[in-house]
Amino acid sequence: MRKEIRGYNEVREAARDWETYSSDLLGDRDVRDYRQLPLEADPPRHTKFRMALNPVFSPSALRPLAPDFQELAENLISNLKTKGEFEVIEDLVIPYVIGCLTIIYKRPQDFDEWRAWGPDVWNAAAYMRGEDVHAAELAHRNRDFSAQSPRDGAVLQTYLDRVFDEAEQRVKDGLDERDIWDFVAGLVVDEVPVDRKEMQGIANVLLAGGRDTVIKLLSGFIWHLIEAPEHADFIRADEEHFRPAIQEMARYLSPLPRMERVPREYAVGDDASRDTDEYVLLGFVSANHDPERFENPEIIDFERERNAHIAFGFGPHSCLGQNITEIETVAFLKAVLPEIGHWRFSIEPAIEWVDEPLADGSTTRYLDKFKAIKIQTI
Ligand code: HEM
Repeated sequence: MRKEIRGYNEVREAARDWETYSSDLLGDRDVRDYRQLPLEADPPRHTKFRMALNPVFSPSALRPLAPDFQELAENLISNLKTKGEFEVIEDLVIPYVIGCLTIIYKRPQDFDEWRAWGPDVWNAAAYMRGEDVHAAELAHRNRDFSAQSPRDGAVLQTYLDRVFDEAEQRVKDGLDERDIWDFVAGLVVDEVPVDRKEMQGIANVLLAGGRDTVIKLLSGFIWHLIEAPEHADFIRADEEHFRPAIQEMARYLSPLPRMERVPREYAVGDDASRDTDEYVLLGFVSANHDPERFENPEIIDFERERNAHIAFGFGPHSCLGQNITEIETVAFLKAVLPEIGHWRFSIEPAIEWVDEPLADGSTTRYLDKFKAIKIQTI
């Protein structure tokens, strides 16, 4: 069992202290052999990659896309209305999140391919075979790469080989930047053009970072707003209420429950020679459910004061996709709120809860995963 750092203050401190708890490590060791960037690097290399990606994540680039996101959500919902019954994750949330990514990355032609991968790129092969990938996801969330698992990097690799063969050629030919892959292939960091492994590492976080996390957040909103219609009324009452509601759902759900760090003394040598049993975990759930920091952390309270949660991380690696998440979620809620009064659970939502350890040795009941939320429209 690897050590997990738990508790609000402890996790914040460790997340900030990159010199002691380094991100210079290879994650997903079962499915890839290159670093995700900027995630799996320390300053100053980390900072250079992070700055290079800023144009993709800047509010000025993203805000103009909000009407397209909202239109996408409205179209999906209006198609579902005619069905009378639907499943939230498969029929609404996944197509919405994938659709938003195709808009942000200017890759509308990839919608069907990305949709076919399901919620998580590493389980794409199993998902396409129709297997239940939950056990593998759970092991991964606990950063247990030894468990027997259907996880497989081949589907993503095939895709990355194809798009970067093309994008690299376009950069060589001096063609205009057309989409995200042309942008990534043309990046120059520290006066050196990025190499293929670096392109793949960047593409990984762009495709994976905003996928299962946002899927959980949006599914959580539907589940909660049907259970607590007064909270839907609270958001409807004032545009200013969107943001605190999103922050509180992010705190409560903590869609990225933990991340790996390597204590500095073990961050030496190549990845294959390292003792990964010495790696530690930052427990974001334990921080966001720390009763010393949050009153009644097990309750969803959109009016929570000083909600300085760390669901989006803390310190140098804090989430680059927070703007994307907020803009996507506001657009989604604007499309959902006029309809949700007509939605009922057709059967009890299938939710996986786990006993999550806290810093004081107690546990909290943590909502680990939405498996299915079936809705009937009335
Ligand atoms: C509810 C949605 C999301 C949650 C809860 C979330 C959570 C997090 C967390 C906790 C980290 C810090 C990881 C660490 O300290 O090691 C992180 C980093 C990151 N996230 Fe997100 N994320 C979300 C959405 C997104 C989206 C939509 C994208 C982009 C499409 C994205 C891209 C990234 C990137 C690139 C990093 C690495 C930043 C760095 O290393 O400097 N995330 N995210």
